[in-house]
Amino acid sequence: MAGTKLHLGIAFGAILALPGAAMAADAKPTFTKDIAPIFQSRCVSCHEPGSIAPMSLRTYEETRPWARSIKQRVQQRQMPPWHINRAVGVQKFSNDMSLTDEQIDTVVKWVDGGAPQGNPADMPPLAPVTSSLYWQAERDGYGPPDIVVKSGEYTMPAVSQDQWWRPLVDIPNLTEPRWVRMVEIRPSNLPGRKILHHSIAYQVLSPENVQAINTGVGDNRFVTAASLTADDAVNRRPQLMEWAIGKGYDRFMDGTGKLIMPGEKISWDNHIHAAGEAITAGSELGIWLYPKGQEPTKRSYLVGFTGLRNGPLSLDIPPNQVSHTEGFTVLKENTIITNFQPHFHLRGKAMQVEAIMPNGRTETISYVDQFNFNWMTNYIFTDDAAPVYPKGTIVHVVAWYDNTANNKFNPDPTQWVGWGDRTVDEMAHAWMNVVYLTDAEYQQRLAKQGGQPGIPPQGKRQTTQQQQ
Ligand code: HEC
Repeated sequence: MAGTKLHLGIAFGAILALPGAAMAADAKPTFTKDIAPIFQSRCVSCHEPGSIAPMSLRTYEETRPWARSIKQRVQQRQMPPWHINRAVGVQKFSNDMSLTDEQIDTVVKWVDGGAPQGNPADMPPLAPVTSSLYWQAERDGYGPPDIVVKSGEYTMPAVSQDQWWRPLVDIPNLTEPRWVRMVEIRPSNLPGRKILHHSIAYQVLSPENVQAINTGVGDNRFVTAASLTADDAVNRRPQLMEWAIGKGYDRFMDGTGKLIMPGEKISWDNHIHAAGEAITAGSELGIWLYPKGQEPTKRSYLVGFTGLRNGPLSLDIPPNQVSHTEGFTVLKENTIITNFQPHFHLRGKAMQVEAIMPNGRTETISYVDQFNFNWMTNYIFTDDAAPVYPKGTIVHVVAWYDNTANNKFNPDPTQWVGWGDRTVDEMAHAWMNVVYLTDAEYQQRLAKQGGQPGIPPQGKRQTTQQQQ
C-alpha cells in the first residue's frame, strides 16, 4: 500500500509540478501545510468514507485525483454546498460552512501550482472517521438530541413510481409539555439518502396546543381553541420540521421554539423515489429541548412562502426555456424571519425573497443564485441579523426554472412541467421560520437596530468579509 501511494505521488508530481518547478518551493501552497487544515475543517465531515460525498478528501492520495474538479467547485462556490448570494440580503448565518475568499484563493493557487503534497511532516493529524450516520447538529457542537422519533422503514423497489409514505407514530418519552429548541431529520440509514427526497414531520396537535397553528399568514387559517375540532387537530397540523435532501437542522431563535405535548403524535410525509436498487429506509426526527426553567416566550412557525401567483395550478413551465414565477404573501403580524431554505425540484435554478414594506420600501432578504437540486441548504440567520418587518409587509418570492439541456438535473427538457409532488414535477416555495411580535415588542426590536425595519445593519454585508 505504502509503495503504491508513494509511486502515485511521484508520478503526479513529475507530470504536474513541472511548469512551476522553478518557483520557490514555499511560494506555493502545499497539501499538508495549507490545504489539509482547510479540508479538515470544511470538507471531510462529508468527504470521508461512509459519509454522503462520493469521495474522501482526507489524505493527499485520495484528494490528488480530484484536484481539477475541486478547483472548479470551490471557485464557483458550489462546494461546500453554500449557494447563497454574497452581495445582497442577510449575510450572517449561524451554520455558515462556506470558505473565505482567502481560503478559496489558497485552494486555487494550490491546484494551479500542480497540487503538490509538500512535506508530510506538516500534515495535521486526522481525526478518526466518524460513524456513518450522524446528526449535523451534534457535529456542530449542540450535543445529541433529547428525543428521537422514528418513522419506521419502508422498502422501495428498484423501479417504482414515486411514493408518499405517511405513517403516524408516537413521540416517545414525553410525559409533560416541553419546548423544542432545535430539530433535525435524517434518513434512518445511509442507503436511505438515495431514496428520500423529502420528509415532513407534522405535529398532530393536542387541543390545548391550538396556538401552534399559524394565523399570521394566509386567508383561512383562523382557528380558536373553541373551534378546534378533532379533525382540525389532524388536518391543520403544523410541521415540527420540513426536511429535504441536503438540508441540515432548524435551530429556532433564542427565546422562541415549538411546544410539544404528551399524547401528540408525529404524522410523517415521506416522499420516496426509486434509485435503481431496492432500499429499505425511513426517517428519524431528532428533537433538542429547552432545559426546564428556560422555556421560551414565543412560538416559531414554519411557513412555506409561495413563489406562485395564484395557487399551484398556475405553475406553467415551458420546455427548452428558462422561465420564472412570482408569489406574494401578506404578513398579518409584525414578523421576524429567521432563516431561508429554497425548495424546488429538478428544474429549480434560483430563488429570491424580497420584502415590500407598507411604505413602499423594498429589501432583498435572501437570494440563492445557483440552486442545486442536491442541496436544499438551510441558511439560518444569526439572531442579531434576522430581519423584522411591520404587519402589512408583503413577502415577494421570485423563482427561476431552468428547463433546458444546460441543467444537468433535467430529465427531459422537451417536457412541459407543472405543479406536482413527484420529483419530475415542480414546486417553488421559500421555507422560513417566523416569529410574531406585538406592537410593543416590535418597537423594542426596532430600537435595537437603529429604528429602521428590515435587516439590521450588522446583518448586512460588511466591507471586509467577516467569517465566524
Ligand atoms: C455538507 C456536505 C459536504 C461538504 C461540507 C462538502 N462537500 Fe463536496 N460533495 C458533497 C456531496 C454529497 C457531493 C456529491 C453531490 C454533488 O456533487 O453535489 C459532493 C461533491 C463534490 C465534488 C464533485 C465530485 C465530482 O463528482 O466531480 C467536489 C470536487 C467536492 N465535493 C469538493 C468539496 C470540497 C473541496 C469541500 C470543502 C472545501 C467540500 N466538497 C465540502 C458533500 C459535501
